[in-house]
Amino acid sequence: MGAGSSSAAVIGLQWGDEGKGKIVDLLSARADVIVRFQGGNNAGHTLVVDGQETILHLIPSGALYPGTTCVIGGGVVVDPGALVKELDELRARGFVREPERLLISQEAHVILPHHKAIDQARERQRGSGKIGTTGRGIGPAHEDKVARIGLRMIDLCDEAYVRRALEVSVSEKNAYLKEVLGEDAIHYEAMIEELLEWGRKLSVHVTDTSRYLHEALESGSKVLFEGAQGVMLDVDHGTYPYVTSSNTGVAAVAAGAGIAPSKLDKVVGISKAYTTRVGSGPFPTELDDEMGERLRSDGGEYGATTGRARRCGWFDAMVVRKAVRLNGVDTIALTKLDVLTGIDPLPICVGYTHMGKPIGSIPASAGAYEEVVPVLEEREGWHDDISGARSISDLPAQALAYIRRLEELTGVDVGIVSVGPGRDQTLLLDDPFGA
Ligand code: GDP
Ligand code: IMO
Ligand code: MG
Repeated sequence: MGAGSSSAAVIGLQWGDEGKGKIVDLLSARADVIVRFQGGNNAGHTLVVDGQETILHLIPSGALYPGTTCVIGGGVVVDPGALVKELDELRARGFVREPERLLISQEAHVILPHHKAIDQARERQRGSGKIGTTGRGIGPAHEDKVARIGLRMIDLCDEAYVRRALEVSVSEKNAYLKEVLGEDAIHYEAMIEELLEWGRKLSVHVTDTSRYLHEALESGSKVLFEGAQGVMLDVDHGTYPYVTSSNTGVAAVAAGAGIAPSKLDKVVGISKAYTTRVGSGPFPTELDDEMGERLRSDGGEYGATTGRARRCGWFDAMVVRKAVRLNGVDTIALTKLDVLTGIDPLPICVGYTHMGKPIGSIPASAGAYEEVVPVLEEREGWHDDISGARSISDLPAQALAYIRRLEELTGVDVGIVSVGPGRDQTLLLDDPFGA
């Protein structure tokens, strides 16, 4: 492992699914510790190693290396049943065998069965006005956390506490489920038994991860923080209310992992060479036509968590510029460049107009954002397959010019170019852990 940075964060710069899993897996070769710090199993991070696909939802994307420690930080909301299943599946394949390879924060909040039931029932009630959540109970779990009625991973090991804490909150939730949402009530006793069983299985992993990370950083370990979702899904800075329920950017690393902000050395922003979004909400460069369908089929744009078709559109410099500003991005990893092969001319969104006038920033209101019109600049495309490229000099001049234009528009250099889902289909120009 080279000198240089000892910690780096990987952050999605668009609406999620930028390829964070692939890039984190790649960088994990030189990291000791990989940390999820926010989100939950709404995330779906895809790793392709030797042609075999692994989709991770809660366990950090460094799990396929034998020497790494994976940490689920206190800012993550954990569905213990989903975590047990994911862990069992990885173990059956020979990964994450030793308990100390997976550490779960004592402070991480638990997603409970009624959180999922409420999330799904609300979405059904909203009909066409739905957010398009993943139905994993993310929003209701965060609501309870902030309302100070949540259950945390440390509590799962204490039967008396679990029973006492849930007795009141479950009867409240059941009244809401039955009377307001018209759904079935949660069976209290069955839920408690299941939670305690999961608590027993996971207890060996539950620890003070904040202290562990502090010591790891002090001792010079290389630590990689793995974001979930993307900046435009951030609860404060995204397209509210069509967002997730956490902060998704670099500002969440310190709070969610329990480290001092000054411990973070480098920010790697991940962006697709075009744009996708799952779920509802504004998306100015969306292509509701054959070209959108082409990007979806060539890019395999179907959700890694829910299997939903992703909405597809052109690269949007307004979005990535905002994400760069909010996150102090040091270097961009540009993914899925291969998917643009053969599209000529190739448009990029360089700005917006609203009511016929140019606007310099993204409107805060989702209604106004729906009305903006992208200003498109057409670039010359390329036609040769680039999925076999292994160095920047293997790229056609037009692909290189496209990258250079994105660098100009975003103000950040592209340090990694990805030309396919596999580990080897990557051009590494600036290694965040390099000297
Ligand atoms: P994440 O949520 O940010 O980790 O991204 P997802 O895993 O949800 O979605 C990214 C998809 O694109 C996955 O299917 C990856 O295997 C795939 N992928 C990643 N990088 C590339 C690339 O450069 N080219 C192509 N064709 N596919 C890629
Ligand atoms: P990764 O980490 C893409 C979207 C949902 C919905 C909104 C709210 O794979 O990039 P939630 O279930 O969080 O309450 O849903 O956020 N969303 C994602 N979209 N990738 C994700 O994660 C997402 N996680 C949530 O589609 O629009
Ligand atoms: Mg994903």
